[in-house]
Amino acid sequence: MKKQVIKRTRQGAYPVFLTIRMCHSDDIDEIMRLQEKLLEELQPDDPSFYPTARQDNLAILNEHAAIGCFENSTLVAYLTLLCPDRSADCLGKDLSMPASELPYCATLDTVAVERAFRGNGLQRMLIRQAESIARRKGMRHILATVSPVNTRSLQNFLASGFSIYILKKKYNNLDRFILCKHLVEAD
Ligand SMILES: CC(C)(COP(=O)(O)OP(=O)(O)OC[C@H]1O[C@@H](n2cnc3c(N)ncnc32)[C@H](O)[C@@H]1OP(=O)(O)O)[C@@H](O)C(=O)NCCC(=O)NCCS
Repeated sequence: MKKQVIKRTRQGAYPVFLTIRMCHSDDIDEIMRLQEKLLEELQPDDPSFYPTARQDNLAILNEHAAIGCFENSTLVAYLTLLCPDRSADCLGKDLSMPASELPYCATLDTVAVERAFRGNGLQRMLIRQAESIARRKGMRHILATVSPVNTRSLQNFLASGFSIYILKKKYNNLDRFILCKHLVEAD
């Protein structure tokens, strides 16, 4: 568990002390609450954020990894990571990776920061934490999808060492860049 001091929030009260820790199945309601809040803020046709169903988030909490930033018991940011991504939709397939590499692919599923806490580099911090989990688990590649219109998220992925590989239709026909960061040198 780690503490992080947030220098500013849009609510004005600062400094704010956040606890950064792994999430468990008990945190599912907080994750769904924050996801709902983000969705309510978006315009109905905004393609930048695609929600994850409750049962899929629960499966991630039980079988994979999620990192949360909490102000007291309130979740203000989180990231979910499939590690390894054993799903039929493993993004390594979209990049035509050889079958032998797919068991070494981790997928960053969701990263979200509550509006009032944006501008503190929390997405990049969560990506760094996810990368260290993926490395500890022996992953060779970490992949993610980002909407081309989601410039903030895209900038944060690129600043974190990810590269854009292809643009594809994903999630009910939405445009998505598929990004990858290789964690080991190619043989
Ligand atoms: C993308 C996201 C996680 C980035 O949050 P973050 O880590 O706090 O962003 P940063 O710290 O890099 O912010 C950098 C700047 O962009 C601004 N910013 C961040 N997200 C913004 C947004 N969605 N709209 C407008 N400005 C935004 C910040 O206020 C900050 O501005 P400043 O430097 O003038 O203060 C956050 O916007 C978010 O949760 N969006 C909704 C969910 C989403 O799109 N997830 C990613 C899917 S791939």
